[in-house]
Amino acid sequence: MKLKEIREAGAKILVPDDESVFYNPRMAFNRTLSSLALGAALPHLKSRHVLDGFCATGIRGIRYALENPLDAITFLDANPRALELARKNAEQNHVQNAEFACDEFNHFCTQTKPFDVVEVDPFGTPAPFIQNALRACHKKAILSVTATDLATLCGRKNQPAQRRYDAAPLYVDFAHELALRIILGFVARQAAMQDAGITPLFSFYQDHFAKIMVLVEKSAQKADESLTHIGHVHFDPETLARDTKPLKCKNVQVAGPLWVSDVNDVRILNAMKQNAPDEKTKHLLEVLENEQGRPPYFYDVHHVGKPAPKMDALIEKLRKKKFKATRTHYAPTGLKTDANIHQLRRIM
Ligand SMILES: C[S@@+](CC[C@H](N)C(=O)[O-])C[C@H]1O[C@@H](n2cnc3c(N)ncnc32)[C@H](O)[C@@H]1O
Repeated sequence: MKLKEIREAGAKILVPDDESVFYNPRMAFNRTLSSLALGAALPHLKSRHVLDGFCATGIRGIRYALENPLDAITFLDANPRALELARKNAEQNHVQNAEFACDEFNHFCTQTKPFDVVEVDPFGTPAPFIQNALRACHKKAILSVTATDLATLCGRKNQPAQRRYDAAPLYVDFAHELALRIILGFVARQAAMQDAGITPLFSFYQDHFAKIMVLVEKSAQKADESLTHIGHVHFDPETLARDTKPLKCKNVQVAGPLWVSDVNDVRILNAMKQNAPDEKTKHLLEVLENEQGRPPYFYDVHHVGKPAPKMDALIEKLRKKKFKATRTHYAPTGLKTDANIHQLRRIM
């Protein structure tokens, strides 16, 4: 394969100019945020051995190692060409204590010693890898997952999401938030099967992917506790009402099971902000912070009524009426508020 050198943040890596080993520069922002979140979460752990489970060129693991104080890192990929390139790239970037394994992820996880951080970044759905990723986690560890199968998770059809995540999506204005919450809910339920609980540390959605990073703690009590955060979102397609409680209407649609509590930890967001490399990152982290404590859904004001008022003016009006209201990172015209659809319509 022919190689060219590229730079991403502080890493200098070789990528092929064909598709023999996967590299997507559009995922650089995902990697930047994941690395920041990892740095903020590492103090929760006693040791710091990372498994970069789907390493491809190694860029993610290399950035984690260059940007954070790790003890060791294992690069894994089923593609031997990827692993060869990851080795070359790790050496070129002077990554310390690196190990390399060419194996299928699920097979590797059933045979390995446990890790402190497990990274799951496959093509499409991460669902078939979550059980074994959890198995490969220490008693207290970080599980970091990217899902790029948003078409399924936001689907017009229920079946694919039911099959993969045992959960119903809704094709509505707030579908991307439901998608992220379905993944979190799925990971929580899979963890509970192994007597483990999860706490979301950092989660966000962008374009075609959802990213979640959770603290995994292996105890039956933690498992029971994290299952209390699983619920459903009910939606009335006629009035556009939405709620976590059942709605009194004829054609109610229900999404879930999904994670209904906060999807970020404010302490992690604050620590990330301290090290944010630019204003774009800082801004996203501030929006995520403002979403905390709000309902697990939002309204796209362009769907609620036209002409839609200016977002800032609407938020101010809602706040004057003593409602909570904030923008959301899921959509530029998305509004998170505790006002119900009728109250929102009246104010609009
Ligand atoms: C989306 S790419 C990973 C991207 C990479 N983490 C990055 O940030 O550039 C998915 C990688 O997983 C590998 N892969 C796919 N299925 C796998 C499996 N079951 N076990 C191990 N590796 C797998 C592919 O060879 C590919 O390199």
